[in-house]
Amino acid sequence: MSPHRLLVLGIETSCDETGVALYDSGRGLLSHALYSQSEMHSEYGGVVPELASRDHIRRVLPLVRQTLGSAGVHLRNLDAIAYTQGPGLAGALLVGASIAAALGFALDIPVLGIHHLEGHLLSPLLSTPAPAFPFVALLVSGGHTQLMEVNGLGLYKLLGETVDDAAGEAFDKTAKLLGLGYPGGPALSKLADEFSGSGRPSCFELPRPMLHSGDLNFSFSGLKTAVLTLIHKHEMTPETRAAIAFAFQEAVADVLTEKSVAALAKTGLTQLVVAGGVGANRQLRNNLRQKAEEIGATVFFPELEFCTDNGAMIAFAGAMRLRETQGRVGRVKKTDPFTINARWNLEVQRLS
Ligand code: KG4
Ligand code: ZN
Repeated sequence: MSPHRLLVLGIETSCDETGVALYDSGRGLLSHALYSQSEMHSEYGGVVPELASRDHIRRVLPLVRQTLGSAGVHLRNLDAIAYTQGPGLAGALLVGASIAAALGFALDIPVLGIHHLEGHLLSPLLSTPAPAFPFVALLVSGGHTQLMEVNGLGLYKLLGETVDDAAGEAFDKTAKLLGLGYPGGPALSKLADEFSGSGRPSCFELPRPMLHSGDLNFSFSGLKTAVLTLIHKHEMTPETRAAIAFAFQEAVADVLTEKSVAALAKTGLTQLVVAGGVGANRQLRNNLRQKAEEIGATVFFPELEFCTDNGAMIAFAGAMRLRETQGRVGRVKKTDPFTINARWNLEVQRLS
């Protein structure tokens, strides 16, 4: 393994996206490929774990070939394989874990299990300009809503999190109530943006849950109930539907923005990193940019394609960890079991 240049293949299979990428610590991201299963799951209104696992099996090797091929890289050039070890759907995680272990064993190179949320929170480091440690990270995905203090690789301190639904989950559930299908977050956001772009005044006001709770926790399940009440009270014309989507998006974006600002104040830090699927939300991005400017902070977003699940963030986190722990990452032996952690705490990610 070259001490300066590391070439890492990243594999992400924690939920309903198969992501594969190739990261070179000297040259950056060389290639990446993604297959989204959302169309398959949309028929069922949500992710069906068993179908997800089976589809990852179908997609992962062709995507590995495609990723290597488009970068002109051969398997024997790889220094390590990184895969999502958790959290996520157990069967889906096992696909990435087993492919990574098999490749690592065959090539006799290290295999690193990466925490999915570490991948997300390091993903803004793939962009330029990149934030430098320490920073506050707002992690807003389909399964998690957390504010973390990030003091270095593996040094993550939880500042606050949702006590019930994650922000993305609230987007998806509300979208379902509005008849927008699955996955509903992006559809709801599009409808809300169209409404605000039309210049019409907002006719609904939704609560800002836990805005004044005095801590950095969130709660989003009540918003969904508030939307349901509106739906029962009003005739659901396309106009009303769009107005509700707008009010919902405003409420979520407001709370996420205020709590992020409070986290910066509490930690005394001036850099905010936003990661996870909801980080693609335009209104949230606008609110955060505006607030950050007001308080003299800087906000960093991953590229839109790296906000949602992807292999690039896993390859990148793998390369960072490998650089820090060089020589201490083991190779796969014949008898090694491959490891997944369907439930896994981000705060236990210290480098060993
Ligand atoms: O990070 P991610 O791809 O997967 C998880 O690890 O959960 O996040 C997916 C979540 C979904 O809930 C999806 O509805 C939401 O991110 N999402 C959005 C937008 N794009 C994706 N929510 C609001 N606005 C968007 N533009
Ligand atoms: Zn994710």
